[in-house]
Amino acid sequence: MADLAVLYDRIRPDERLLFEALDDLGIPYDKVYTPQLKIFFDAAGQAAVPWKVAIERCVSQSRGHAVTRALEAFGVQVINPSHVIELCGDKLATNARLHACGVPTPRTGVAFDGEAALELIEEIGYPAVLKPTVGSWGRMVSRLNDRDAAEAVIEHKEVLGGPQHGVFYVQELIHKPQRDIRAFVVGGECIAAIYRTSLHWITNTARGARASNCPVTPEIAELSVRAAAAVEGQIVAIDLMEDPARGLLIIEINHTMEFKNSVGTTGVNIPRRMGEYAQGLLNAVSVPGQAVRTDLG
Ligand SMILES: Nc1ncnc2c1ncn2[C@@H]1O[C@H](COP(=O)(O)OP(=O)(O)O)[C@@H](O)[C@H]1O
Ligand SMILES: [Mg+2]
Repeated sequence: MADLAVLYDRIRPDERLLFEALDDLGIPYDKVYTPQLKIFFDAAGQAAVPWKVAIERCVSQSRGHAVTRALEAFGVQVINPSHVIELCGDKLATNARLHACGVPTPRTGVAFDGEAALELIEEIGYPAVLKPTVGSWGRMVSRLNDRDAAEAVIEHKEVLGGPQHGVFYVQELIHKPQRDIRAFVVGGECIAAIYRTSLHWITNTARGARASNCPVTPEIAELSVRAAAAVEGQIVAIDLMEDPARGLLIIEINHTMEFKNSVGTTGVNIPRRMGEYAQGLLNAVSVPGQAVRTDLG
């Protein structure tokens, strides 16, 4: 058993790259297939959780959050901690925190029933963007060009949707160039960034956008690091948009970041930087009496 665990539920190319980087760094670690993990909250539980530090890489957000919570009860430092997952895993929570910290975001509002949602959308103005508070890969991110579209989507959500569709998270549409920016922040440093370019207004690479290197300007570095710090993220990917009038705005923060398209593109060995960060935490927890820094975001 090693001091470090990598918690996963599916080995994607990203996880494979991370394993290779940890091997190259010579850091011993356990690959922990989370769906088969059992954690007992009894006297033997302490022994059953041998790790000091864990990197959480689950594709399932709810599983990743739950295992993080459970391991934290045994003193394991999980990257990222559960409170970071709670903020980043929910766009409303993220936006509320960024807003409170004065980090610029698109104009955003939330309503809790269809009628109020329509009023909110009309106040924000068309085109507006409606998106689920929990989700990724651009799924159900909807552009509403006019009132007809707004009414249609609201009605579908109300009639078909479960409880999560009772929250209407609305944003102004940013007239960005045909791209957005993803910046990678590790331990309070912006280590790399990519442009995601697409003919479609949704620029997730999972939706076919092309990744290319984005030079990390002082502005991108400063804002990404501020955004990561606002949610106390240790290893996070920040989505930014370029607003023609206001400059850079933060759209969301990803706490289990995908990076496979960004290593060759940027020339930065992102998984190695993640491994080095984990090693730093391991060193900190291994030295008795040394306070563990958890403010590295
Ligand atoms: N307010 C907006 N204005 C313009 N484009 C947006 C806006 N919100 C989202 N998008 C586009 O949709 C993509 C997905 O939105 P995002 O909020 O990051 O959700 P997801 O978690 O699904 O990636 C963004 O990368 C961006 O290209
Ligand atoms: Mg996104």
